[in-house]
Amino acid sequence: MEFLKVEDLCKVYGRGENRVAALDHVSLSVEQGDFIAIVGSSGSGKSTLLHAIAGVDIPTSGRVLLNGQDVYAQSSEKLAVFRRRQVGLIYQFHNLIPTLDVVENITLPIRMDRRRVNRERLEELLELLGLQDRRNHLPNQLSGGQQQRVAIGRALMNAPAVVLADEPTGSLDSRNGQEIIRLLKESHRKYRQTLVIVTHDETIALQANRIITIADGTVVRDERQVPLG
Ligand SMILES: Nc1ncnc2c1ncn2[C@@H]1O[C@H](COP(=O)(O)OP(=O)(O)OP(=O)(O)O)[C@@H](O)[C@H]1O
Ligand SMILES: [Mg+2]
Repeated sequence: MEFLKVEDLCKVYGRGENRVAALDHVSLSVEQGDFIAIVGSSGSGKSTLLHAIAGVDIPTSGRVLLNGQDVYAQSSEKLAVFRRRQVGLIYQFHNLIPTLDVVENITLPIRMDRRRVNRERLEELLELLGLQDRRNHLPNQLSGGQQQRVAIGRALMNAPAVVLADEPTGSLDSRNGQEIIRLLKESHRKYRQTLVIVTHDETIALQANRIITIADGTVVRDERQVPLG
């Protein structure tokens, strides 16, 4: 089933000689439960694409349809609720709230929704992420990799339909990086989540069902493959 559709998406930053077409007529469709790797050189538009799909960065033109719903056609309140419930975005540079501790950061989207925190799921996640004994630490009391894991916990806490991860292993050594990927894959299988990972790491890209290559804001290659591992 087609779950995510990106139609003729453009994102232009700046004007005149500062004009950058970060996304230049990108179209693609993604099936539910797919695991996609997005690769491409620095500045090619990978983060911009992820943010546009996640509903956090309004495109200049084009549409994003998630589960049949036009993401940017809804009111900003509805869009915010949609984001919190349907999408787990892991930013390239962790976007933790510095004044909130680990547990508060992870449960923030749920509390903003005024919903009850599922304690069991929280404990399960803290254990998976190896953060049980850091639960009351603030972000500046954590290592870079631990902060990255908190950001992942926040994205997975809601068991969203789609998980978008922007270089989630960028600041980790290869062992911890592979552990994070294992975690994302486990969640993807368990909850039939659609998983999109931006990565520069070929060993991660080879574990996906499909690799999309972006260059200068356009899709230059889109290949299905038998995933490794
Ligand atoms: N807020 C902004 N204002 C102006 N230009 C921007 C802005 N954000 C991104 N860009 C430009 O858009 C292009 C795409 O940026 P993007 O962050 O999507 O690249 P990327 O593929 O994620 O790169 P990296 O691998 O380095 O993270 C770049 O050329 C960048 O300079
Ligand atoms: Mg980026």
